[in-house]
Amino acid sequence: MPDSRGLVILTGAGISAESGLETFRSSDGLWAQHRIEDVCTPQALMQNPQLVHGFYDARRAALATVESNPAHHALARLDAAWTGDLLIVTQNVDDLHERAGAQRMLHMHGQLNSTLCAHCGDQSPWRGDMPVGAQCRACGAPALRPDIVFFGEIPYDMDRIETALSQADLFVSIGTSGAVYPAAGFVRMARAYGAQALELNLEPSEGSAWFDECRHGPASLLVPAWVDELLA
Ligand code: APR
Repeated sequence: MPDSRGLVILTGAGISAESGLETFRSSDGLWAQHRIEDVCTPQALMQNPQLVHGFYDARRAALATVESNPAHHALARLDAAWTGDLLIVTQNVDDLHERAGAQRMLHMHGQLNSTLCAHCGDQSPWRGDMPVGAQCRACGAPALRPDIVFFGEIPYDMDRIETALSQADLFVSIGTSGAVYPAAGFVRMARAYGAQALELNLEPSEGSAWFDECRHGPASLLVPAWVDELLA
């Protein structure tokens, strides 16, 4: 009888670390090099759009130089093989899950390879640098911004995420510090609905105590091993 449990898998910057992308809260991470209030708030975009666009241009350019790692490929393999419900909810704005082949997924914090029109809300694919005041193809306004959910803004797809959490039998958190809400609260929501919770992370996260089981180590080792176990 195939395992048809419902899975919700939350990923954070730690799953992309071994691909060479910086995480946020490590000692030399992105928030050690830049102030959040300078590059990741609506006020920052208003007051210094050049700095904000430049920050995301640099991260978009870095993305073009890295590849998905065994953790991304393992989740894509699970997605393809799993007969039950499965949803990968990533906090990451990189496209490494997609490039590994993941299908059933969403980006709750937006994506580097997308642009958002601050005037009409249109979202469109975007590659390369994004000049300040670029024109929206849908409405023509010079109002294109990085399609990134800034601190103080509402993450995408919260209804879909909450529905998936309410129906999950297993919630797995991979490579996230558990420092930022609402993602940091998903484990509690899933458990309140009766799901089992597993954390796969380099070290204990801020939310480790909420998990039934925690495995600590690099995602490129832990995730393929966990997927093999699940598909055995
Ligand atoms: N394998 C597994 N986990 C790892 C690895 C690795 N190779 N390297 C680092 N980690 C873990 C770290 O131990 C840490 O717990 O990944 C986590 C990364 O935490 P953060 O840098 O805080 O990144 P994240 O949890 O994704 O941040 C959440 O905060 O700044 C906002 O919007 C931004 O989406 C981001 C959100």
